[in-house]
Amino acid sequence: MKVTVIGTGYVGLVSGACLAEMGNDVLCMDVDPRKIELLSKGEIPIYEPGLKEVVRRNVAAKRMKFTLDVERAVDHGTIQFIAVGTPPDEDGSADLQYVLAAARNVGRHMTDYKVVVDKSTVPVGTADLVREAIAAELKARGVEVPYAVVSNPEFLKEGAAVEDFMRPDRIIVGADDEQAVFLMKALYSPFQRNHERLVLMDVRSAELTKYAANAMLATRISFMNELALLAEKVGADIELVRQGIGSDPRIGYHFLYSGAGYGGSCFPKDVKALIRTASDHGRPLHVLRAVEAANDAQKRVLVEKVVARFGEDLSGLRFALWGLAFKPNTDDMREAPSRVVVDALLARGATVCAYDPAAMHEALRVFGDRPGLGYADGPMEAVEGADALLIVTEWKEFRSPDFDALKAALRQPVVIDGRNMYPPELPRASGLEYLSIGRR
Ligand SMILES: NC(=O)c1ccc[n+]([C@@H]2O[C@H](COP(=O)([O-])OP(=O)(O)OC[C@H]3O[C@@H](n4cnc5c(N)ncnc54)[C@H](O)[C@@H]3O)[C@@H](O)[C@H]2O)c1
Repeated sequence: MKVTVIGTGYVGLVSGACLAEMGNDVLCMDVDPRKIELLSKGEIPIYEPGLKEVVRRNVAAKRMKFTLDVERAVDHGTIQFIAVGTPPDEDGSADLQYVLAAARNVGRHMTDYKVVVDKSTVPVGTADLVREAIAAELKARGVEVPYAVVSNPEFLKEGAAVEDFMRPDRIIVGADDEQAVFLMKALYSPFQRNHERLVLMDVRSAELTKYAANAMLATRISFMNELALLAEKVGADIELVRQGIGSDPRIGYHFLYSGAGYGGSCFPKDVKALIRTASDHGRPLHVLRAVEAANDAQKRVLVEKVVARFGEDLSGLRFALWGLAFKPNTDDMREAPSRVVVDALLARGATVCAYDPAAMHEALRVFGDRPGLGYADGPMEAVEGADALLIVTEWKEFRSPDFDALKAALRQPVVIDGRNMYPPELPRASGLEYLSIGRR
């Protein structure tokens, strides 16, 4: 099948690569010349495990190509995936300017039947706006060309994106056009050979499903984070509580870890956008407002622990930071808790030496040349001479440190763990003062 993917970010590039892997003829379009130049040279602009291999294989097989040329992109695919960003607008709503620009481009250049698929996360009603944008362009051209607009939200997780796309838990398709449904089923059939995973529904339900999923996951995290803070007050251990409730199949073990707050390119903005949609419709989501407020507070918990231990004024103190990405296996630092932690430590006069296995170049872009912030080549280099180690992202390579070596390297033997990485007795056996979230 001929497929065009508009936008080659985390979602577009992974979707394009995986669709090509299944034998489709995929053309990926972006407005960013730097990205297209890199991709055309066989380089990958983002860190995503396994992605490079899939892209290179399919480029070599000529099933995957890249372009800046809008007309060529529209001409290529019967299916046109819109996978551009939908960042939060000032009022919290999703900014649809990129989605609608992509839709207008399709309307401006299409000459035959197209299925235009909203893969970006977009608020309920966006498919109607996309349909209208295309219709307006066709009208301006004075032509009538048939097309359908479909909602097909993406559920991949950064860090496991290729695996998620290749083996999806579910494929949500919101469509009301028979031909479009037929094509979407055909496109996704190679991804569900084991059993049917495609859930067909109306467009608005599909659009809301994506927000409902992310809002539910964010709710679980914020709930556990608030409970962890209570556990500290009452002398309970949140890790034991997690195991105790997770064993109930109605609750389950997933997404019940307390920590330094959620971040990333999806949860914060999608929670905001759903809150906005709800209030626009006069149906405020009280639970979700609390989820957001709890998370904003949670991102500051690590610094509160630092202040409780070292005092308000941190000048003259040096902190090692393990982890900058918002979660392991990605270089994405959008809304990452590390950003709040670094800003707060520097504002209190401390210096910070950070290390992340994948996000160092992204950190340089995000923080620039911030006085007081330095980077180390490895985790132990970051710790050398520091007054405390702060763990912000739970990368695998931080799971089994040599605690004796840590103790020897630190100027003061303090570890503040924002991800509850270790059984407390392990670092303590090496003489480290170990603080974590919600545990004794
Ligand atoms: N990142 C994730 O884990 C994830 C998961 C599920 C859904 N989503 C959703 O998918 C969408 C894309 O997210 P992302 O993380 O891939 O974003 P991203 O910022 O990494 O990539 C978006 C890309 O779109 C390009 N673009 C912007 N306008 C364009 C246009 N008119 N034509 C062509 N390209 C254009 C940008 O240059 C950029 O390369 C968002 O709505 C997001 O909420 C993201």
